[in-house]
Amino acid sequence: MNNDPRVIVALDFADAGAALALVERLAPDQCKLKVGKELFVRSGPALVEKLAALGFKVFLDLKFHDIPNTVAQACRAAADLGVWMTNVHALGGLKMMQAAREAVDKTATPPKLIAVTVLTSLSRADLCQVGLDVEPAVQVERLARLAHEAGLDGVVCSAQEAAMLRRQIDPDFLLVTPGIRPVGSDSGDQSRVLTPTLAIAAGADYLVVGRPITQAADPVVALQSINVEIAAFLGTTP
Ligand code: C5P
Repeated sequence: MNNDPRVIVALDFADAGAALALVERLAPDQCKLKVGKELFVRSGPALVEKLAALGFKVFLDLKFHDIPNTVAQACRAAADLGVWMTNVHALGGLKMMQAAREAVDKTATPPKLIAVTVLTSLSRADLCQVGLDVEPAVQVERLARLAHEAGLDGVVCSAQEAAMLRRQIDPDFLLVTPGIRPVGSDSGDQSRVLTPTLAIAAGADYLVVGRPITQAADPVVALQSINVEIAAFLGTTP
């Protein structure tokens, strides 16, 4: 029994029925689950509570970014749903992240609170357009340090950034990485991808995996083979 599976399956489905059809075939000792904006807007808190009641650890990926009080209350509401992890945008600033941390810590079961640094869809030119004349990697490091200073548990980052952040920030700081592609799978619209083994070797704690599992001919087999690959690298049992 693995109490801390490293794979977070991104439930990028348009409705609860499709998400639950997959979830019925998965088990909480094989993976955690991520609910993002589309599924949450369509299916709401009831689905999140249902997934948690099934025993899954749920990452509620709504990337809150607003004034400190509003974000703090939203994070508190997420905690009340029983989620394992939730997130905010580090660009909301130190005070916003501190307010979120404080609000979450007052709840009965505080979820892990992490920050998005720079969206991986943004290039150097995109940052410049919004007034940030800085290399994305430099901005990622700056915002990760700010999230750490605010007492957050970690950041979402690309697997390519994981090694740099692992060297710069303390070992307990969680690195959650999307853009994972097992060898031989289609990279889809992700341009900077790493295999599960390379991401873990770079220092990632948790891997967010969507289409390589959700669109696989057999999602259970696809998840199992990623777990076997990770276990082989770590020298543990899958
Ligand atoms: O299907 P795929 O494995 O590319 O899904 C990756 C998941 O991670 C999606 O839910 C996507 O929204 C999310 N994500 C990402 N890149 C980021 C942040 C989140 O792909 N920088």
